[in-house]
Formats: sequence, C-alpha cells, structure tokens
Amino acid sequence: MQIAQMQQLLAEREQAGLLRRLKTAQQVSGRVIRYQNRELLNFSGNDYLGLATEPKVVAALQQGAADYGVGSSGSPLVCGQQAPHQALCDEICDWLNVDAVLLFSSGFAANQAMLLGLAASDETLLLDKLSHASMIDAALQHPGGYQRFLHNDLGSLHKLLQKHSNKAVVATEGVFSMDGDSPDLAKLVELCQQYQAPLLLDDAHGLGVFGPEGAGSLAAAGLATDASQCLMANFGKALGGQGGFLATSAVVADYLTQNARHFIYSTALSPALAVAMRQSIQLCRSQQWRRDKLIENIQYCRELSAQFELELLPSTSAIQPLLIGDSHKAMWVSQQLAAKGIWLSAIRSPTVPLHQARLRITLSALQQKQDLKLLFTTLKELL
Ligand SMILES: Cc1ncc(COP(=O)(O)O)c(C=O)c1O
Repeated sequence: MQIAQMQQLLAEREQAGLLRRLKTAQQVSGRVIRYQNRELLNFSGNDYLGLATEPKVVAALQQGAADYGVGSSGSPLVCGQQAPHQALCDEICDWLNVDAVLLFSSGFAANQAMLLGLAASDETLLLDKLSHASMIDAALQHPGGYQRFLHNDLGSLHKLLQKHSNKAVVATEGVFSMDGDSPDLAKLVELCQQYQAPLLLDDAHGLGVFGPEGAGSLAAAGLATDASQCLMANFGKALGGQGGFLATSAVVADYLTQNARHFIYSTALSPALAVAMRQSIQLCRSQQWRRDKLIENIQYCRELSAQFELELLPSTSAIQPLLIGDSHKAMWVSQQLAAKGIWLSAIRSPTVPLHQARLRITLSALQQKQDLKLLFTTLKELL
C-alpha cells in the first residue's frame, strides 16, 4: 500500500474516533497502573487472580531462568520441549483431567492451531457471532468454510447443525471477552453430541475463575474437559503469564503434533516461563481465597451498578462491560476517568460492533471495595 493511502485511512479512523494509540505504562499490576508518574486504579487488565505479580510466581520465573535459561532455543519438535515444559503439561493434565497438553507461544496461536488443525477440509466451522479474532481469522482460512450462529443462541446453532448434519465442527467460548457472558455449556454440549459435531472451546476467561480449583467453565457446568474435543486456554489471563495451551485426548494431541503449524514452526515457550506457570497453576488450584475475593468483587460491582443506575451487560464473570455506544463518547469518558486516577480503556470498533463502544470493566482479586466505589461514583459524575 502507498504511504499516502495509509495516511488517508489513518485520518479517516481518527475522525471516526477509532484511532488506536499505544500507551506505555511504567508498571502494571492487578490493582494499580503506574503511568506518567501517576498511579491509576486498573480496571482493564486480565490478571483476575493477582498472580502476575505474586512473589512466588516471580521467584519461580527467576529460578527457572537460572536453571534452564531464558529461551527454549527451538520449536518443540526440534529441541524446544524441555523438562519444565513437560512438568507444566503434566500439571495441566492433572488439573483438567486430560490425557495430553500442547503448549503454544500465545492463546491466539493455540486457537488458530485448534481450529485449522481439527476441522477437516470437508467440514464447516460453526462459530459464535462474537468469537474472538483468533478464531475468526482461522475460520477465514478454513477450506471447508464457516458460518456464524447468533451469539449464545442454541436455536440458531441447531439450525446450522441440521443444515450441515455430520459435517460440522462447533467453536465457541466459555466466557466472551468483550461481553463477559457465557453459553449454556451443558445444553450446547448435548446439542453437539446429538449431531456428532466436535466442540472446540476457548476458555481464556473462564480458566482459573470458575469451577473447583479454577478448572474453568466446563467444570463449573458439571462437565468433564472431554465434553469438548479440544480445550484452548491461555496463561495470559488468570494465570498471570503469557502463552497458551490445548488440552485434549492423546489421539487429538498426536494428530495436532503432525499438522498444527503454529506448534511445529514456532519457538517453544520460554522454559523459565513454563516453571513460573506451573507454580501459578499450583497457587490457582490451592488458593481458593483468590477466587472468593474475585467473586466478591464481581458481586459488589453488580450491586454498585444497580445502586448508581449504571446498567452493565448481563455477566457473572470478571468482565463487566458498560455499554456507551458512541466511540467519541467512550473515549471521552475513558480520558476523564484517567484524569481522576482510573484506567479504564474504551473498547471500540472493530473489536466490538460499530456504535457499541464500551467501557469494559475487568475485575481482579487484588482490587479493594473502595476502588470499585470510586469507579462508580466517578462514572456517575461523568455520565
Ligand atoms: C477469548 C480469547 N481467546 C484468545 C485470546 C488470545 O490469547 P493470547 O492473548 O494469549 O494470545 C484472547 C485474548 O487475548 C481472548 O480474549
């Protein structure tokens, strides 16, 4: 593309209030962001359990680097898969009660590998309308094509399953990243089974937050992990790290090992990070107080929303969006909040549909009640 054309497109975006700008924070934690020498309360992160800065996880990373080095130095099938990676996979297998786990450098890559690797070329991918970009991009590349069902609408999915009987793979999320809501997983699994359609589930925002020991959305719905053919989750949310994984059966993992390009042709996770993520999972499993505190904050956030008559989208997760609509207005509110010591990013098109700009409040176990109170009193003043 010519530079002049890029400039024109950038100007158009700016005029529509949709220009994205990178802001460099000095330091980020689950509760506070340090930016331009000021401390702002963080309501935009995904560190749901406060594990990103947990000293034991930090110490594990340091020890991991001392013992194994910083980089894995190769893709998993060459020499990248090392003892800490295997220990992390074993930990996840035990946690989620699955046979096999494959590690990826990001959740984005893991999702792409899952959809592109597991949908056969004569099968249609059926995707929720609000699926994450990583799934949509995979669907766009899938030779068998894709169709989208209405968001969390089992009737809409049912019609597509009838249309593509026995030749469909269903992909959806345990918790939707921009709306914070969830499908009825028990019914969805039943429907997929009725049509023998494999289910591929992204539980990026459910893992660590829901279910016994934080085992995620399937466990919270009383389902075993193998209710989905393959489960994707990442380390960058509740587990406070970076990277992603697929948890599945031995056969599926073996199959993916042959053909998942994001696995085969990409440098394996840092071994130090693998050590840290194992420690993080152990804390996530054993420290129920983190989930209890998060749930308490979620409930308090809903109470404040009712009290201040600032209606949030329906959600029981750590993602509590406040719909604003207009992008310029969402940006303005976000800037005003920042001036008053609150970091709450505006989410705009194309991340969410046009005219559905929102302030996506995200909660963490590290936040205090007074933080939430301040957020809502300030929002009320502004709106
Ligand atoms: C639902 C969902 N899936 C996948 C991803 C991608 O994961 P990662 O950030 O690890 O690449 C994200 C977030 O970034 C997400 O919100």
